[in-house]
Amino acid sequence: MAEEIKITVTRYNPDTDKELRQQTYSIPYHNDWGILDALNYIKAELDGSLTYRWSCRMAVCGSCGMMVNGTPRLACSTYLNEFYPGEITLEPLANFPIIRDLVVELTDFMEKLKEVKPWIIRKNKSDEDDTSSEYIQTTKQMDNYYQQTLCINCTLCYAACPVYGLHPDFVGPAVIALGYRYNNDSRDQGKDERRKFLASEDGVWKCTVVGDCTEVCPKHVDPSASIQRTKVDNATNWFFSFLKGNK
Ligand code: SF4
Ligand code: FES
Repeated sequence: MAEEIKITVTRYNPDTDKELRQQTYSIPYHNDWGILDALNYIKAELDGSLTYRWSCRMAVCGSCGMMVNGTPRLACSTYLNEFYPGEITLEPLANFPIIRDLVVELTDFMEKLKEVKPWIIRKNKSDEDDTSSEYIQTTKQMDNYYQQTLCINCTLCYAACPVYGLHPDFVGPAVIALGYRYNNDSRDQGKDERRKFLASEDGVWKCTVVGDCTEVCPKHVDPSASIQRTKVDNATNWFFSFLKGNK
C-alpha cells in the first residue's frame, strides 16, 4: 500500500459554521511535495470546498502563509518530508480575522502599509515624476536598505508577534521594516513624513523585542533589527530636537 500522511485543516464557512472546526484528510505521501501541493491535491481530488490562498508557488507572492503545526510558514516552501511520518496541522495565520478556512482578512495590514508611505519621497514633489535624470547610488548606499527590500508582505511576522496579538493597533514588524527600507534609501527625503507614524504611540516603542518576527521571516528581512534601529533613529532625532529647543 502507498504511503500516506494525515493533514488536519481548520474549516470555517461563515454561511454555515458558528465556530471553527477541524477536518482530517489522508493523502498520498510524496517526498517532494510541499504543503501547497498537498492542499491542491485535497482540493482537486477530495474536497473542492477547501479554501486557501496562493499564487506564485515559489515563495515570492507572499499569499500562502498559514500556521503549520503552530508556526507561521509559507505553504509553498514548506515540505511534507519535514514532518513525515508525523501528522500536519494547518490553521489560518494567527492574529488575523478569519474569512473562510485558511484565508484571513489583511485589511489592517494593508492600511498600515499605506500609512508608512513605502515609496521614495522627495521634498520637491516634482522630482518624484521626473524621469529625465538619474539618482546615482553606490553599492554601499544600496547595502543600507537592501535586506528590507526582500520583504514579500506575507505577514508571517504579524502572526508570530505577541505584541500585535495583544495590541492590534501596533504598526507591526513588516510595516516598520519597510519604513526603515525607504528611510535608509539615499534617494529618499521622506523620513520626517514617516516619523509621525513610526514614532507614534502604536509605532516602534510598542515593540518589546521578542524577536519572533525575525525567527519566522522566510526572506531573512530581520524586522526586529529594523524596529530597534528605527527606535535609535527616533530617540536621536528627539534628542537633537530637544537640544535645538523644538521640544
Ligand atoms: S518581514 Fe518577513 S515575515 Fe514579515 S511580511 Fe516581510 S517577508 Fe513576511
Ligand atoms: S504561493 Fe506565493 S509565496 Fe507561496
